[in-house]
Amino acid sequence: MLKRAAEIEIRVNGRSETVTADPATPLLYILRNDLALNGPKFGCGLGECGACAVLVGDRSMRSCTVPVGALAGRAVTTLEGLARGGEPHPVQAAFVRLQAAQCGYCLNGMIIAAVALLRRDPDPDEAAIRAALRHHLCRCGTHLEILAAVRAAAAEAAPPPDGAPPRDARDDDGGEA
Ligand code: FES
Ligand code: FES
Repeated sequence: MLKRAAEIEIRVNGRSETVTADPATPLLYILRNDLALNGPKFGCGLGECGACAVLVGDRSMRSCTVPVGALAGRAVTTLEGLARGGEPHPVQAAFVRLQAAQCGYCLNGMIIAAVALLRRDPDPDEAAIRAALRHHLCRCGTHLEILAAVRAAAAEAAPPPDGAPPRDARDDDGGEA
């Protein structure tokens, strides 16, 4: 089938990018090959493993199955776009702190799925965490460490109990600032 190249504008990690591509090209190829964003990984290419996940708005989506032409006007965030002010996102920091990795190939998808979960539910229970990661495959068997990292990030993101000051109003020792 003949390819139809077109100029396509997409918004990635807060920047407008113009790429020339067939609109049916999977977003994953554009991110990795055109924009040098290698956080999202190619695993199965079939929407099965989750290694290629990105945020579209606040939802985790599999970039190997999303055509780039479908993303006009949507905000895409990759693993590279999660950090703020040079600091890793709290989910990324929890994965590092708890050493939740072996080969690391699945971690892009695990982290993106966890960020999406915490955006829609800042205080998820164990069932919600497991459901969010359910369709993300890890061939190394790092599941227990990954779950622990997401639990740790969730504990940080959880709203304070009724009557407690907001988390960012506390000092580093947990007292009120
Ligand atoms: S590479 Fe996209 S889901 Fe496996
Ligand atoms: S750490 Fe290797 S695939 Fe998950």
